[in-house]
Amino acid sequence: MKKTAETSTPLLTEIAERWSPRAYDNTYELSKAELTAVLEAGRWAPSANNLQPWRFSVVTRGEELHTAIIEQAMSGFNAAWVPNASHVIFISVPAVNQDGNPYPIAWFDAGLASQNMIVQAQALGLATHPISGYNHEVVTKLLGLEQDRNSIAAVVLGKQGDMSGLPAPAQEREVAPRTRLSLDEIVLHGLN
Ligand SMILES: Cc1cc2nc3c(=O)[nH]c(=O)nc-3n(C[C@H](O)[C@H](O)[C@H](O)COP(=O)(O)O)c2cc1C
Repeated sequence: MKKTAETSTPLLTEIAERWSPRAYDNTYELSKAELTAVLEAGRWAPSANNLQPWRFSVVTRGEELHTAIIEQAMSGFNAAWVPNASHVIFISVPAVNQDGNPYPIAWFDAGLASQNMIVQAQALGLATHPISGYNHEVVTKLLGLEQDRNSIAAVVLGKQGDMSGLPAPAQEREVAPRTRLSLDEIVLHGLN
């Protein structure tokens, strides 16, 4: 299913056609080449002072860790559809910077890396869905992250599938139109 954005001017195909489906093909497993390309795109994101604070934990459908995360940490709504996707890439950042101070720009950097992965996946004909609806503390523990590193969000990754197996609320969201605030609402200064 396509849900191409209605844009005021033409955009890159990967940006216009990307959306966040919940219907994934539970038989499709990404090839090593596909997965590597997605991660490589994340690697080449810009970051403040080129510190690259992101780390990626790739969890594959079928492995024990995947089951544990779904059962112990995924929110009810997400638990209904996330298990079908080929992979979940958890993104983590340090809790503090090198001087022990708050490090909010790391979250911004990690967002850029995530979007790089999402756009690369889109170009490869894959589907993605960013999520933060899971117990971050439990996931941080299950992933065995260092004490000072936190899981902040994840990108669900796979091949889009048939939505007929999804619970009704997920199906409703699958077909709901995509909406955005207008440019007038989000550009506070500089666009006449
Ligand atoms: C940081 C972040 C967290 C999100 N968490 C969830 C989530 O837990 N579950 C979910 O179904 N969608 C989640 N989403 C997806 C958004 O709902 C979705 O991107 C938004 O509605 C716009 O839809 P689109 O991506 O199809 O354009 C999240 C998106 C982002 C960026």
